[in-house]
Amino acid sequence: MADILDFAAAVRARRSTRAFLAEPLTDAELRAVLEDAQLSPSNSNSQPWRAHIVSGAKRDELSRELLRAAGEGRVSMDFTFDPKYGGNEDLMRKVREQGGRYYETMGVAKDDFAGRGELMLRNYEFFGAPHVAFLFTPLVGDGVRVGADIGMYAQTFLLSLAAQGFAGVPQTALGLYADVVREALGVSDEFKLLFGISFGRPDPGATANSFRTSRVPVEESVVLHS
Ligand SMILES: Cc1cc2nc3c(=O)[nH]c(=O)nc-3n(C[C@H](O)[C@H](O)[C@H](O)COP(=O)(O)O)c2cc1C
Repeated sequence: MADILDFAAAVRARRSTRAFLAEPLTDAELRAVLEDAQLSPSNSNSQPWRAHIVSGAKRDELSRELLRAAGEGRVSMDFTFDPKYGGNEDLMRKVREQGGRYYETMGVAKDDFAGRGELMLRNYEFFGAPHVAFLFTPLVGDGVRVGADIGMYAQTFLLSLAAQGFAGVPQTALGLYADVVREALGVSDEFKLLFGISFGRPDPGATANSFRTSRVPVEESVVLHS
């Protein structure tokens, strides 16, 4: 069993990882992550998450199908995604800053739309990760509350990976072709796909994994009242 990082170290070790080694997690390693994630809080302890973990030949097949769907533009999202963030300039500034620095790290010019498209497609190769978790939920109301629960599950999952020396990346991109994923995994239409997490062992030498994001100071996000 690997050393487990303490809380502060795990929070700081977690980052979205976009290059992985081929070696899968062992069954025991995967089980430990799933047991941790299962402890996530949820509205009234409803535990709406249904995680489908895809590995091996099924992973390769689904990657091919998602790439084909992306090539043919067969978008079928269960939840909306607004790339303009509702016109909120503050959010857009942060989004542009992150995107610009990521393209720079990857050696792709901002106006190289073909290059940016290629990078986007890496999502459907799961960035080389040996495993993917597709996070489904039953739809309740407008979906916001169950969406929050799925977010809780995802963060526990990601922190558990980080604590054990593994890594992952949450991907809205994996929810763009929900019908393709549902069909490939035999999932009922009652379950809606919010996003996925590609995960495995990080490739320490990869350029993509040298990318670091920043955060605004706490004072910009928090108002203290007393
Ligand atoms: C719900 C969610 C969806 C995301 N979708 C994608 C995605 O589709 N592709 C991707 O490369 N990164 C995706 N990310 C990763 C974010 O870009 C990343 O979390 C953010 O830039 C902060 O970087 P960090 O995770 O390394 O701290 C997503 C993150 C979250 C929380």
